[in-house]
Amino acid sequence: MILVTGATGSVGGEVVDRLLEQGEKVRVLTRNPEGARRWAGAVDVVTGDLSDPGALGPALDRVDRAFLLLVLPGVRQAGPIMDAVRDAGVEHAVLLSSIRAGSAQDSALKQVNLAAEAAVRESGLGWTVLRGGTFMSNTLPWAASVRTERVVRAFGGGFRSSAVDPRDVGAVAARVLADPIPHRSRTHTLTGGEVVTITEQVAVLGDLLGEPVTFEELPEAVTRAAMVEQLHYPPALADSMVTMLRNGDESLPRVDGAVAEILGRPPRSFREWAADHIEVFR
Ligand SMILES: NC(=O)c1ccc[n+]([C@@H]2O[C@H](COP(=O)([O-])OP(=O)(O)OC[C@H]3O[C@@H](n4cnc5c(N)ncnc54)[C@H](OP(=O)(O)O)[C@@H]3O)[C@@H](O)[C@H]2O)c1
Repeated sequence: MILVTGATGSVGGEVVDRLLEQGEKVRVLTRNPEGARRWAGAVDVVTGDLSDPGALGPALDRVDRAFLLLVLPGVRQAGPIMDAVRDAGVEHAVLLSSIRAGSAQDSALKQVNLAAEAAVRESGLGWTVLRGGTFMSNTLPWAASVRTERVVRAFGGGFRSSAVDPRDVGAVAARVLADPIPHRSRTHTLTGGEVVTITEQVAVLGDLLGEPVTFEELPEAVTRAAMVEQLHYPPALADSMVTMLRNGDESLPRVDGAVAEILGRPPRSFREWAADHIEVFR
């Protein structure tokens, strides 16, 4: 049995779909079982919260492999979660971390991902760390203003990253979970195949919609306040996000070959991701 956390999110949903295709038995952990309704009858659904590691027993019962998100709002420490995972007899854990963990620039986001990685590596389990690049799905919050005004208001239009389709990250995780041995004690960095700026992503949306979409740069302070007040980021994390958007990070525009190597095909481009989600923006 494979436990998938974050199954209702952009990466975890793909992990579940690919594992079911491969004939694996899957259990998902969610705070809101309604969000897992699309797999009714096909997966075990357990209600639980990673911020309460002491209550993870039912989710971990008879689980031998686990896909773990440990860097989440409200989840303060990865160590107690990994203790529960080890004590339940899980053999292999696949952690979704961030490319920022490998950055030369220090930041709260780097430190929180490094702490999660350390908890997994030191757990005594077999482990694989997947360091995801910037997700293409981070553009979804633009949908409302694109639909109504054909405008994107954001901070850091020139920010460059080798953005990755979260479905590619999920597909890699499913491959690793289905056959962990070749990936044991390995850290893979998962990026897209090209470097894009935020304004280039906006232009691709306009192109696919057949109408120009304009970009309006928001002030840094407004962006930081929205992260803290609306997205409930701890202030230090919000600081590291806006600093990254302002100054860039040399580790983020790096294109890595791991997605292509593991999946045997090139990573999806932003144009492909956007074409598959264009109705949300129309
Ligand atoms: N966004 C990026 O660019 C990026 C890049 C690299 C790595 N990451 C990492 O990828 C992960 C997902 O990020 P995302 O922004 O794309 O998220 P997302 O798609 O919005 O999904 C978040 C998922 O986490 C689950 N979750 C949240 N809090 C939880 C809790 N306390 N207990 C159990 N489950 C909880 C949610 O499940 P329920 O609501 O169903 O409980 C949901 O399925 C994060 O760990 C993030 O650090 C993100």
